[in-house]
Amino acid sequence: MLITFEGIDGSGKSTQAELLFEHLKKLGLKVSLYRDPGSTDIAEKIREIILSFSMDPTTELLLFEGARSSLVWEKIFPDLKEGKIVIVDRFIDSTLAYQGYGRELNLGTVNILNHIATRGKKPDITFLLNIPLEVALQRLKGKRTRFEEEAYLRKVRDAFILIAHQEKDRIVVLDGTKGQKEILQDVLKVLKERFGLDL
Ligand code: ADP
Ligand code: TYD
Repeated sequence: MLITFEGIDGSGKSTQAELLFEHLKKLGLKVSLYRDPGSTDIAEKIREIILSFSMDPTTELLLFEGARSSLVWEKIFPDLKEGKIVIVDRFIDSTLAYQGYGRELNLGTVNILNHIATRGKKPDITFLLNIPLEVALQRLKGKRTRFEEEAYLRKVRDAFILIAHQEKDRIVVLDGTKGQKEILQDVLKVLKERFGLDL
């Protein structure tokens, strides 16, 4: 099963991905945790480039997709074949929200590139951590990158909500302002209900 976490910077994705990973591991399940972009030698190098340089939106899009392709091919597919539960911190919806809606690149093009990078594999379930922009900015204090300019993040946040409406069956919107443990319980409840997992 492929589980992804999405949301704006500071929404608590990494925290929840890690909490779920630890919870499933403790139960003795075979599970892996990755971050996109990253988690392969190639994708980590691409991540460094993306975060170090300003660039035009199309170059940025192609780099994210290159990193994703490497992650899917080298890690996600082999793990899924082994029957592992794979958790990924960000995935295709981030590219649609940040590069598509945020940088105003053609949405069809973004969808096609997402499809190429993932070979058409979609997450079985995606958790969108929804928090007001002000809360995210407060959490990020001082740790902001070029992706975290306020007006841009506002557009990205709205885009995530829109994408979630468009893909209701796959994307579950969670209240990211709750406490960390409470959100984990929400995640586990959905996984139990949808997939009959004994968590
Ligand atoms: P993201 O991966 O979405 O950028 P993180 O998980 O790194 O977000 O969390 C950003 C900051 O907010 C961290 O300092 C983290 O400890 C804190 N945080 C995460 N989840 C919560 C929560 N539910 N309530 C309050 N603070 C949180
Ligand atoms: P990441 O470190 O995962 O973000 P966070 O600060 O939430 O932990 O990702 C780095 C940045 O890359 C983040 O600001 C969002 C951006 N991003 C895109 O613009 N497009 C994408 O496709 C992805 C995966 C990330």
